[in-house]
Amino acid sequence: MIKLHDKYFKPFISAQEIDDAISRLAKEIAADLGDEIPVFIGILNGSFMVVSDFVKKYPKPCEVTFIKLASYEGVKSTEDIQRLIGLTQDLSGRTVVIIEDIIDTGNTLEEIHRIFSKERVKSLKIATLFYKPEAYKKDYKLHYVGIEIPNKFIVGFGLDYNGLGRDIPEVYQIKTTQHMTNLVLFGPPGAGKGTQAEFLKEKYSLVHISTGDVFRYNIKNETALGVLAKSYMDKGDLVPDEVTIKMLNAEVDKNADANGFIFDGFPRTEAQAKALDALMETKDSSINAMVALEVDDEVLVKRLLERGQTSGRPDDANEEVIRKRIAEYYSKTAVLKEYYSSQNKYFGVDGVGSIEEITVRLSAVIDKL
Ligand code: IMP
Ligand code: MG
Repeated sequence: MIKLHDKYFKPFISAQEIDDAISRLAKEIAADLGDEIPVFIGILNGSFMVVSDFVKKYPKPCEVTFIKLASYEGVKSTEDIQRLIGLTQDLSGRTVVIIEDIIDTGNTLEEIHRIFSKERVKSLKIATLFYKPEAYKKDYKLHYVGIEIPNKFIVGFGLDYNGLGRDIPEVYQIKTTQHMTNLVLFGPPGAGKGTQAEFLKEKYSLVHISTGDVFRYNIKNETALGVLAKSYMDKGDLVPDEVTIKMLNAEVDKNADANGFIFDGFPRTEAQAKALDALMETKDSSINAMVALEVDDEVLVKRLLERGQTSGRPDDANEEVIRKRIAEYYSKTAVLKEYYSSQNKYFGVDGVGSIEEITVRLSAVIDKL
């Protein structure tokens, strides 16, 4: 992964793949042009690398020149193309091949056609190393295409993000989600998980995804997934992980610009932990840490009994029930502790003390991630 200015990019197309694509273009074009001596015209700035490599591979005599156009601002193409350096030689009767680094919307290509409509060239061919078919909005024929890519911003091999990245010999693609801190929050009943989740959410601008809340929301609003989940619950069956993951996926997508997520109530099993990893991977992200509040059983029992006196929650009133819930928590989460520990992602935090003391301990862990 690399960072240019404020954005993160991941490896996408290797130098070898680029080299192969340019070799293919050179071969194809040479075969079509026969003994004609073409004029290759690179469109600056982006095309300087591809033109350089291309002409080195071109097996026959050729001429090379450049024009300089500019259209991009940040990560968006603009309609307004500026002609910074135009044509400086007479191309009457010549076979001209435009060499582009990338064709995106086709706005630049339109400008190229405008420029060449006034020249009496014998023929005008368009070659591009990269092409984004989903973004292309014009009808001009693209005679030679190196590699088709999805409609996502790329950098490297001549392509820049606000000036940076042109020098990189391979191509990187913008990450679907930018840099995130994703936590799985754990704690036995009575550990103060809810209070601390609220604090973490505020301090780090994270989105708190409580699986229970997500279920209730989907069922209440009768979303397709909510209806499906309810059909299992009504039969007394567990909702399959697949359904839960789809709900979580929707939550993550709704908050794609978030700084990260706090997962609460999921995962509960190793299979679910793996499914969550797979989900985050599709967002070019990952789980950074399992943070578990650690509180001695006797303290928990005392806290919950106290809470039971005021909250009226029946499961907080009975010591035997409380001890059972705590035991259940440890037997269920042991495997997850194992799972995340083996990846050095388990962080136990002492959950005994004042709320402020505990938040300080949690911050210390998260600030180091
Ligand atoms: P178009 O005019 O939208 O076809 O875009 C063409 C120009 O926009 C290219 O010559 C690049 O300078 C720039 N461009 C388009 N897509 C990208 C990209 O993914 N990364 C960097 N620059 C791009
Ligand atoms: Mg360009």
